[in-house]
Parts: sequence; C-alpha cells; structure tokens
Amino acid sequence: MTTSSAPGKIILFGEHAVVYGRPALAVPVTQVHADAEVLDSARAGIWLQAPDIDLHAELHSLPSGHPIAAVIHSLFFLRRISPFPSLEITIRSTIPVASGLGSGAAVSVALTRALASHLNVSMTDEEVNAFVYEIEKIHHGTPSGIDNTVVTYSKPVYFTSGKPIETFTVGYPFTVVIGDTGIPAPTKQAVSDVRHLWMDNRSYWETIFDKIGIISFTARRAIEAGHWEVLGELMNENHEFLQEMKVSSLELDRLVKAALSAGALGAKMSGGGRGGNMIALVNAETAEAVTRSMREAGAKNVILTQVGQSDI
Ligand code: MEV
Repeated sequence: MTTSSAPGKIILFGEHAVVYGRPALAVPVTQVHADAEVLDSARAGIWLQAPDIDLHAELHSLPSGHPIAAVIHSLFFLRRISPFPSLEITIRSTIPVASGLGSGAAVSVALTRALASHLNVSMTDEEVNAFVYEIEKIHHGTPSGIDNTVVTYSKPVYFTSGKPIETFTVGYPFTVVIGDTGIPAPTKQAVSDVRHLWMDNRSYWETIFDKIGIISFTARRAIEAGHWEVLGELMNENHEFLQEMKVSSLELDRLVKAALSAGALGAKMSGGGRGGNMIALVNAETAEAVTRSMREAGAKNVILTQVGQSDI
C-alpha cells in the first residue's frame, strides 16, 4: 500500500495580479490536507473511492475530464504505463472544496505522488509540480501556477509566474485566522471577469497590478523582519485593490470588517474571491476576539493557522 498527503494553502498577497506576472505570496495550511492511498486490487480495473465527494466508481465509467480521472489518464499516458494495473485508490480530503484553500491542487498532488510511488515511477518535486500545473489548466483555464507550487513544495512561496520558484523561510512565526464564507468560490469565473476588466483598460489595470506586486514584495520583507503592523496594513491595501477588481463580495467584506473591528492587524480576502475564504492577521491578544467576531459575522468555518512553524 502507498499513501501520500498534501496540504491546503492560502494566498497571503497578490492573487489575480499573479496571473499577470506580478509576484504573490502563498503559504501551506497543514491543518487541512488531501490524502491518497493506492493498493493492488484483486479485481480487474482501477477502483476509486472518494467518500467526501461521494465518488465510488471504476475509472473508465468517469468522464475523461473528471479531475481525478484526468490525473490517472495523464500520468499513465506520460509515463507509458500500459496495460493499466488493477488498483484500489482511496482519496480523502479535509480541505473544503471551492473555498480557495487549494483542494483541487492538493488532491492532484497527493494522488500523483501515491500513484508514482506505488508504480515505482520516480518523480522529482519539479516534475510533480509541472504535471499538476497541466491538470490545473484543464480545470481553471489560465492558472498562474501558484496553487500547485505551494501545495507541491509545502513551503511558503514567493511566486512569480515563469520565474524560478522561490520558497522562503518565515523568520518569525505569525498567526492568521482563516474565515470561510461557506459560499463556493468560482475561481475560473473571477479570473475571467478580471481579464475582461483588464482588456477594457489595460494601462489602468497594469498600474494596479504593479502596485499589488509592490505590496507582495514589501510583504515578504515585512514577514522576514517580523514587522506585523506593516504586514497588516499591506493586507488592508491589497484587499482594497481586490474590491476594486470586483472579486470581493458582501460576505467577504463583512468578515474582513468584523476581523478589523475586533482588533486584527489587517485582513483581506484570499484566493479567487466572490466566496471562499478571507484571512486576518492576529496576535495572541486578539486571536480569540477576532475569531468570535468573524463567527458572529457569518463565518461558516474558522481555522487558526501558525505561519512559519517548524512543519512549514
Ligand atoms: C487562485 O488561488 C489564485 C488566483 O490568482 C488564480 C491563479 O493564480 O491561478 C485568483
């Protein structure tokens, strides 16, 4: 039996602008994860169980565009695995689907690694990352690649599309509260709507994306130096730009406001937007009040995560 696990992720800074080549910061969230288990099967076929999405099926009964089927077909095609072996595959995930926490990328990474290892196919992190990026493209249209990168390496990343991957160390750990609106985040739609805005007035949006790029750059320095007030202010500024891009929503704004009014140092939506999650920067004194305030403002789920602890 072979198993593999991959974490969730949050984008701290730079979502959407990252699609246009600006830097963004993302970190893994190890409290939630996707796990894949692969076993040889006594019955012919590739049998899939994913109880969280109520999937119990043989591979060939799934449409070829199905995210899980796409991983298996693409990997077997790429590595010339033929005939198909008989396998029992189980996938479990505690990462809420379509919430901006990278559930799709995490399932793809965990499944790719479990399959590769079970079939003695050697794959470096770079190869897993490049492979999962191709899978992400099937589902998200024009992804920047940040989700698959942070999930594959399970480290904080300073990501610029097309540039060498920069993982970095968080000098001083800090705490982020993640609040889920409970509304599915239509990432593909949000990315496409931002593209329309950009096409209508490129020079204006290029300037905004530049400003967001500078926020990501400055935020990395603030994280390395432990300048939390600066980091919080940068989150607020980044959120305002995302509001201007029309990818925030009433629910996200309500949670951001609730976090700030309870003493968070900064807060912003995170990921594709229109739903999904927002994040708030807190310290030991404010964590509890911020969490309570976000729940009262409608957060369906709240996760407290330490960024920069030894496991990330
Ligand atoms: C989604 O997690 C982040 C976006 O910037 C899209 C992308 O980078 O592919 C909205």
